[in-house]
Amino acid sequence: MKTSRITGAGHYLPDRIVTNDDLAQMMDTNHDWIVERTGIEERRWFTPGKDTITSMAVEAAKMAIERAGIKTLEIDFIIFATITPDYFIPGNGVLLQRELGLQGIGALDIRNACSGFIYALSVADQYIKTGMYKAILVVGAEIQSSALDKSNEGRSSAVIFADGAGAVIMQPTDSPGRGVLSTHLHADGDFAEELYVKDPGSSREVRISQEMIEEGGFNLHMNGNTVFKHAIVRFHEVILEALQANKKDIADIDLLIPHQANLRISQFIQQKLQLPDEKVFNNIMKYGNTTAATIPIAISEAMELGRIKEGDLICLAAFGSGFAWGSALIQW
Ligand code: UT7
Repeated sequence: MKTSRITGAGHYLPDRIVTNDDLAQMMDTNHDWIVERTGIEERRWFTPGKDTITSMAVEAAKMAIERAGIKTLEIDFIIFATITPDYFIPGNGVLLQRELGLQGIGALDIRNACSGFIYALSVADQYIKTGMYKAILVVGAEIQSSALDKSNEGRSSAVIFADGAGAVIMQPTDSPGRGVLSTHLHADGDFAEELYVKDPGSSREVRISQEMIEEGGFNLHMNGNTVFKHAIVRFHEVILEALQANKKDIADIDLLIPHQANLRISQFIQQKLQLPDEKVFNNIMKYGNTTAATIPIAISEAMELGRIKEGDLICLAAFGSGFAWGSALIQW
């Protein structure tokens, strides 16, 4: 059976840099608190009128296509992971498809938040294994900054979440033992309201009301402490699950790319696994937490920096809203 491999990756980050000092002008926070609790020094926020989810995804996709050395028209399926699409309906996959001139091919949207890219990669992997598709564009893109509560009440989320896009091309390989070795997906809906955006909810009398706006239901709500405690357990567990499934040891990992939730979470996992610094990739310091986009952005940057080499064992892992979490082990 064929396996799938990532043949190219790209990313796009809005050019508007928002520093911790900039945030301190908007809410009661400060650079030292943010760095101590999250490791984030600055992040990117979109420019309204310039950046959209679609425009950012197009840029990331073009870079991934070029680096994969394929023609855009070779793409036969799109999987788009985002919880912040340009429209409420339809999903963002079709908008990206239209911009790339790929009308007619299938476009699927995935709404698993921070784990969205791992879920998307897992779906792409199954389609390629069965031979259904041969060049899948997998994207993670988010604009979180427009739904952050920038008052003191929302400051614990506002300092973390940010905007950006990443994309990869997945294609089949015949090389034995190479490509995506396995993916592992989990969720526990008992915790759905620990990290969520309540409105616009469809099961109300009207989908959008003045009351919802006044109650702040459109903003992201996060019980940071609970999320943190579950994240450190689930990240560790799902990484070990991927290793065990493939009879690999922690020491076999060449690079761990964790979802960039909070640098302190990544460091906790690194310490638990006893991995040296050069085996863990972090860029949250510059970009904040871009939800479904963190992993493809990190893959793209890690490739640029020569941190991923042919034959390396790469572990991806994510945890977030849902709760949903997952991992993927890739022999590059
Ligand atoms: O993407 C995946 C999903 N998300 C995550 O994985 C995020 C997981 N959670 C976290 O990263 C952390 O919980 C946060 C960074 C969000 C918050 O850090 P924390 O250490 O859990 O802080 P806390 O919410 O327990 O708040 C501690 C104190 C509180 O003050 P008091 O009550 O001790 O006086 C907060 O009011 O820090 C205060 N605080 C802040 N102070 C300055 C909360 N946010 C801020 C802030 N600036 N931005």
